[in-house]
Amino acid sequence: MGESATAKKLFVKTYGCQMNVYDSERMTEALAGQGYERTDRPDEADMILLNTCHIREKAAEKVYSELGRLKPLKAANPDLKIGVAGCVAQAEGEEIVRRQPLVDLVVGPQSYHRLPEMEARVRGGARALDTDFPEEDKFAHLAARPKAARGPTAFLTVQEGCDKFCAFCVVPYTRGAEVSRPADRVLAEARDLAERGVREITLLGQNVNAYHGHPGGLAGLIRALAAVEGIDRLRYTTSHPNDMDDALIAAHAEVPALMPYLHLPVQSGSDRILKRMNRKHTADAYLRVIERVRAARPDVLISGDFIVGFPEETEADFRATLDLVAAVEYGQCYSFKYSPRPGTPAAERPQVDPAEADDRLQRLQTLLTAQQRAVQDRMVGREVAVLFEKPGREAGQMVGKSDHLHSVFVGGADVEPGHLRRVRITSSAANSLAGAVL
Ligand code: 5AD
Ligand code: SF4
Repeated sequence: MGESATAKKLFVKTYGCQMNVYDSERMTEALAGQGYERTDRPDEADMILLNTCHIREKAAEKVYSELGRLKPLKAANPDLKIGVAGCVAQAEGEEIVRRQPLVDLVVGPQSYHRLPEMEARVRGGARALDTDFPEEDKFAHLAARPKAARGPTAFLTVQEGCDKFCAFCVVPYTRGAEVSRPADRVLAEARDLAERGVREITLLGQNVNAYHGHPGGLAGLIRALAAVEGIDRLRYTTSHPNDMDDALIAAHAEVPALMPYLHLPVQSGSDRILKRMNRKHTADAYLRVIERVRAARPDVLISGDFIVGFPEETEADFRATLDLVAAVEYGQCYSFKYSPRPGTPAAERPQVDPAEADDRLQRLQTLLTAQQRAVQDRMVGREVAVLFEKPGREAGQMVGKSDHLHSVFVGGADVEPGHLRRVRITSSAANSLAGAVL
């Protein structure tokens, strides 16, 4: 069949991290130039893109079974094109093409700017595979973000890749070496987002605090972004403890737009395990970083990531993790059972008994959940700033995020998405706060 007069439909399914959410937006915008608009319905799509994640657990197998489920759609619409993007595409490239004849296109995270040209080839009946790590800046080559209005919050990728090589992690292999986008391009994108209604930007990078696209590093970029008209709030994620320099910590004290929230993964509280993880810091060094950040910004909410059941982790190592958690008092946490990733050093080592790892994960999560809840409960009675995002489930209800990234519900108030208001917190539930607009 030839080109239809109406727009072609693109269905994108995004797995994994916030960077994939950002990448999915950028790919959608790039394909808009090829006449595509986004749809929520795979059954009416002319192209389906799976933007995949490879960080944990049988990721590739999940992608193959998802692809299998798309078979009837392809049978119903032979013109449907199916693409795999993201980190599984990078890691599995040719294997996907070989194993799954359904797939027309495989594109790795560093090649998204080549997507329009690949789409044209695929439309012509060919299959396209690109998992290069090209020299050129993909974002500079991607179509500019269109001027359409958008919600009050946005992600903005400023740095990609990682040179740290933690022994468990695929990121240095799937996303490649650390690359920072130049500050002027980031600033131009932020201005564009602000013009389209965005008031809060979360800067993304696998190692965002190693950002070096501004002479003043991430702190310099944050100060420049804070001066952009219309941008009221800035956040950044994810950081490595060894890259929390004085300038960035000072920014937490001095830049009002920089929100009092820090996601700083430590993974384990045991020095023995940290060494085996190739983290290049001790538990104590991590605690000292937290102390310095809290000295600069006493109300900062600390968030973290943990892995339990890393190869050779003993009960004593695990208890050291529980001790560290008790010392930090996390406001938010993500904890995972270790998952051996093919090609990473730790995958080859003696593994912890899975039942033991499950038990540790449960014990850690019980502690973390209680801690998060205690931090959240302490907000009751306080006055906080909330950036409203969307209506809640009940009539007249609106929900937004506080400076500390807590979800806050208010009812019956005269607020709209994009409004930044003072709210008195009145109660705390499992995963959110409720309050009244002042
Ligand atoms: N197994 C379990 N968790 C992992 N993470 C990264 N790699 C693995 C793995 N192989 C977790 C880390 C990281 C987060 C993004 O995912 O905690 O900080
Ligand atoms: Fe992976 Fe983060 Fe370690 Fe880099 S610093 S290897 S992204 S866990």
